[in-house]
Amino acid sequence: MFPELDPYRVPERLVDDLARRMEDNGAGPHHASLPAGYTYFGQFVDHDLSFDPVSSLRLPNDPGQVEDFRTPRLDLDMLYGSGPRDMPYLYAPDAPPGGELLLIGDSRTQFGEGFAAEDLPRNAAGRALIGDPRNDENAIIAQLHLAFLKLHNRVVRELWDSGHAGQWSDRRSEVFREAQRIVRWHYQWVVVWDFLHRLLPDGLVEGLVTPALATGRPPRPAGRARRRRRPFGFDGEPFMPVEFAVGAYRFGHTLVRPSYQINARATNVQLFSAGGDRLDAGHLDGFRPLPGRLAIDWGRFVQLPGGPPPQPARRLDTKLSQPLSRLPAGVAPPGEAGRSLAWLNLTRGSSMGLPSGQAVAEALGTTPLDDDTLRLARAPAPLWFYVLSEAETIGRGERLGPVGGAIVGEVILAMLAADPASFLHADPPWTPFLGPRPGRCGLADLVAYAAG
Ligand code: HEM
Repeated sequence: MFPELDPYRVPERLVDDLARRMEDNGAGPHHASLPAGYTYFGQFVDHDLSFDPVSSLRLPNDPGQVEDFRTPRLDLDMLYGSGPRDMPYLYAPDAPPGGELLLIGDSRTQFGEGFAAEDLPRNAAGRALIGDPRNDENAIIAQLHLAFLKLHNRVVRELWDSGHAGQWSDRRSEVFREAQRIVRWHYQWVVVWDFLHRLLPDGLVEGLVTPALATGRPPRPAGRARRRRRPFGFDGEPFMPVEFAVGAYRFGHTLVRPSYQINARATNVQLFSAGGDRLDAGHLDGFRPLPGRLAIDWGRFVQLPGGPPPQPARRLDTKLSQPLSRLPAGVAPPGEAGRSLAWLNLTRGSSMGLPSGQAVAEALGTTPLDDDTLRLARAPAPLWFYVLSEAETIGRGERLGPVGGAIVGEVILAMLAADPASFLHADPPWTPFLGPRPGRCGLADLVAYAAG
C-alpha cells in the first residue's frame, strides 16, 4: 500500500518491552457501545480475506512474495470452498443438484451425550470439515461459522418455496447460486454498513462508498494529502496489502475479552484452557466437538430486538487481555506456543518490513501522534502499535483513528469495488431484504434470521 516508505526493522529490545507493556492484567475496560459479537465477526472477516501459511517470523520476508492462498475477497469461500463439485464434503449429500445445502454437524449423535446437537460438521477425530481451519479456533467463531451455514440453508429453502420472488437475478434455475449471491451480498453489506460503520472514524464509510461506486476506487483525499498521495485501489489483480493484514486490521486483538458469558448457565467462560477433557465447558478452546453447555445465546453477543443489552467487547487501546499474553499450542504458530500475541504481531510486522506508524501518517497527510502520546522514548512506532495508540487517544477507545481507519476502510472498500461479483460492483443500488428491516441489515439481523 505504501511501497515508497522505508521498512522499519523494530529493535528486538523494543519488541520485547512493548509486548510486555501491552499486557492487560485486569478485567479490561469495556467498549462503550460495541457488542462482543463484533470481535468475532471481525475475526471471521479476517479469515475470509487472509490466509498466509508461509511467511517466516524469524527471517525478513518480502511481502510481494507472500501470497494470499485463497481469494482476497469478501466471498465467504470458507463456507463454500470452491463449490459443490470440487469440495462435495462441505455439502449435505441429500440436497437436489443445483440447490445444494451446506453440511451441518450433529455432535451429540456423532460423539455422544453432552455434545451439542448442532455443530460444525466434523470427522471422526472431531476436526471441523470447513473451508478454513481457523474458523474452529474457538467456540465463538465456530458458532458464527455455523450461523452462516444455517443462513445459506435457510435462503436455499426459501428460494425452493418461491420466497424472495422479486430478488432473483436472471438465473432462475440455479437456486444454489442465487442463495450464495444473496448470502454474500448481505454479509458484504453488514461488513460495510454495520461493522466498519461502527469502528471507522465518523463519516469515513460514507466518504469511501460513494466514490468507490462511481470509479471503482476510494476517493482522493482533499487538501494537502491530495497533492501527495493517490488513495489505495487495485490497478490489476486484487492482493492483500501487508499494512492491512500484518498491521492495521490486527486492531481486533484488543477487542478480545479474557472471558465470556455464552448463555444463561455458562457465564464466565475463559478464552483458553490449561488442558482438560473435550466436554469441559469452562473454556472456549476450539478444534473439538462443541460441548452442549457452550451452545451460544446470540442475545449475549449482539443486540436482539427487545432483548437485554449484550456484553460489550473490550475497548480499543494499547493493551491485550491477559490470556493473549501466553498463546496455547494450536493457536500460536508452530514452534511459538507460550508467546504473547503482541510479541507475534510486532515481530511479524518487523519481519514483513512494515513502515512505521509515523511514516504512514505523514504519507496520508495527517499529523503524526507526538512522542508524549506514544511513550517510546522518541523511537518510531511499529504500525500496529501506532494504530492502537490512535484508537485509544483520537478514537477514545471506540473507533480507529486516521491511519487505522484509512488502511482498514480503503482496503476493504477497494476489495469490494474490484470484485465483479460484489454488490458494490455488480448492483450498486442493491439493498438488503432478509430480516425484519428491509433496506437495512446488521449482524444481529443475520444471526437471528439464520436461527429461523
Ligand atoms: C480469540 C481471538 C483471537 C486470537 C486468539 C487470535 C490469534 C491470532 C494469531 C495467533 C495470529 C497469527 C500471529 C502471527 O504469527 O503473526 C493472528 C493473526 C491475525 N489476526 Fe487474530 N486472533 C484473534 C482475533 C482476531 C480479531 C478479532 C481480528 C480482527 C478483527 C484478528 C485479526 C488478525 C489478522 C488480520 C491477522 C493476520 C492475518 C491472519 O493470519 O489471519 N484476530 N491472530
